[in-house]
Amino acid sequence: MVEIKYLVTSALPYVNGDLHLGHLVGCLLPADVYTRFLRSKGEKAIYVCGNDEYGTPIVVAAEKQGLAPKQLADKFHERHKQALEGFNIRMDIFSRTTTPEHTKVVQDFYYYLKQNGFIFRKEIEQYYCEHCKKFLPDRYIEGKCPYCGAEGARGDQCEECGKPLITTELIEPYCVICKDKPVLKKEEHVFFDLPRVEKELRGWVEKHEGMTANAKNFAVSFIKEGLREKDISRNMEWGVPIPDAEGLVFYVWFDAPIGYITFTKQLGKMNWWRENDTQLVHFLGKDNIVFHTVFFPGMLIAEGEFILPSKVIAYEYLRFSGSKLSKSKGTMIKALDAVRALPADYWRYALLSALPENKDYNFTWEFLEEKTNELNDVIGNFIHRTLTFAKKFFNNIVEKPELTQADEEMVKEVGKIVKKVEEAMHNVELKKALGLVVGLARKANQYITAEEPWKKEERKKAVTYTCLHVAKALAVLLKPFIPESSEKILEYLGLENKKWDDVKILEEKFIIKEFKPLFKKVEIREVIEKINKKEEENMIKYDDFAKLDLRVGEVVKAEKVEGADKLLKLTVDIGGEERTLAAGLAKYYKPEELEGKKIIVLVNLEPKKLRGVESQGMLLAAEEGSNVVLLTVDKDIKSGAKVR
Ligand code: MF3
Ligand code: ZN
Repeated sequence: MVEIKYLVTSALPYVNGDLHLGHLVGCLLPADVYTRFLRSKGEKAIYVCGNDEYGTPIVVAAEKQGLAPKQLADKFHERHKQALEGFNIRMDIFSRTTTPEHTKVVQDFYYYLKQNGFIFRKEIEQYYCEHCKKFLPDRYIEGKCPYCGAEGARGDQCEECGKPLITTELIEPYCVICKDKPVLKKEEHVFFDLPRVEKELRGWVEKHEGMTANAKNFAVSFIKEGLREKDISRNMEWGVPIPDAEGLVFYVWFDAPIGYITFTKQLGKMNWWRENDTQLVHFLGKDNIVFHTVFFPGMLIAEGEFILPSKVIAYEYLRFSGSKLSKSKGTMIKALDAVRALPADYWRYALLSALPENKDYNFTWEFLEEKTNELNDVIGNFIHRTLTFAKKFFNNIVEKPELTQADEEMVKEVGKIVKKVEEAMHNVELKKALGLVVGLARKANQYITAEEPWKKEERKKAVTYTCLHVAKALAVLLKPFIPESSEKILEYLGLENKKWDDVKILEEKFIIKEFKPLFKKVEIREVIEKINKKEEENMIKYDDFAKLDLRVGEVVKAEKVEGADKLLKLTVDIGGEERTLAAGLAKYYKPEELEGKKIIVLVNLEPKKLRGVESQGMLLAAEEGSNVVLLTVDKDIKSGAKVR
């Protein structure tokens, strides 16, 4: 007999910022639920994940925070671990891509591709920023998407339409660090010959039955448009070195998915990747579809020895009252803030009820309120009533009695629901599965109301016993979704460690332990308040702010600076005193536009020399992408006026 092994993965989070609810619901949490289910069914299953620590996303973020990439990675590795723990997301390993093991696995993978003839070199034109003196790969560059027209598309992918890009396709590209327009320069790069696996890949994708519809549709149409050779090298320091190409590292989307293999290897289960009885199941967000259905499978086919995914589960976006819960854009709620404000099970229950399975889901505070109430009123209430009957009527010991038809029907309903839930879980229809379980709890509440055991002496025992049977089922079926609460229910029932298949068994006897109400009514306003209370580290103290000496200043003179095409040299009157400021405004304002303008200046800033000009302060401006505008005053006021 072959025993199936399940290798479950979740897209590796970047370490450029904190995990937020969008990350959780978009892959980390559903993968946890699915793995917990498999384990409960007694299947052999592991869940591997870790951080995606290389690539321009991290370098750009580190540069902005004045940290080295490794420092940023270390910081968020710890924070990601805390957030996952807080949400009870259990992985067999949560590793990172910046380990020597990973370097070795990636480089070996590369050598196999090379041996099989899939690697070649070619000279190409790449954008280069004259100002920053560097090549601009991937996220170092942004512009308009040539496919959907979205602004702020990144050099390697447009987040809006999901299409992978090459930087030279961007319309109106600019350097994300300095906003300059880059120039083209020739450079030799390393390529993966993806078109050579096109036929095989197309056959595999078209026949595939384990992909969510969004993943399959995207992949099929993407391959139909024809595959391009993939540039897998980057001229930068932060990355896995390409062993035979000096100065180049691998593109982060080359090394990151190989992380799944590295992390499995770190668990001592490398062989799982080479054995056909392994079911590889990927969980990911929709912007990662192309990498998990085309590039990575393409690499796996070319490598030749590894298995391909059996399931690719891609979620749409969770939007929060209109805006996507994403780090890069708009509102977001950090996972760490969320669990500080409300216990994990409430979030898990609400988020899993909102799983964006076929389309984006708009998560609102009202929805969170509705779901936390449901947890309390439907599930919590049923369990508490049941336990109370056992305690009050039978002093906590309930033996199996004769059941009447009404009880038998309730028991049968349990059996029916378990089967349906199991099927949904195997198909990774988590929202449906959860809905079925809640339906069972509702039915059971109705059953109690109809049978009125508190009134009918002769019904007390059978109804209490039947309810305990349902409670056991609820606890086991809900455990993948709300593990902490389910464990408590099982503990109260004296049935710790019961698994999926134990649900059908009618216990001879229940011995109830001490119990407490499981949930309580949640005041959403309080939750919001707690979330809004930002963490210490993000706060600046009142006194810190008071240190800033901000003044209104009038621009007396503005002139270009020789040899620095971005800088303007301004002479500013800050109230009886003139200051010289060097400001990177040349691309946005002509000198004559500035003269006479009243602006806001930070005057107690250490002087700094910029291209030969000593800047004695800093002016304030607002920026959005390549749009930069000056802060000025709204009505006339004397130069030197204090800004507070
Ligand atoms: N870090 C990527 C993201 O957040 C996902 C990497 S998934 C892997 O979009 F397949 F590369 F591992
Ligand atoms: Zn630049």
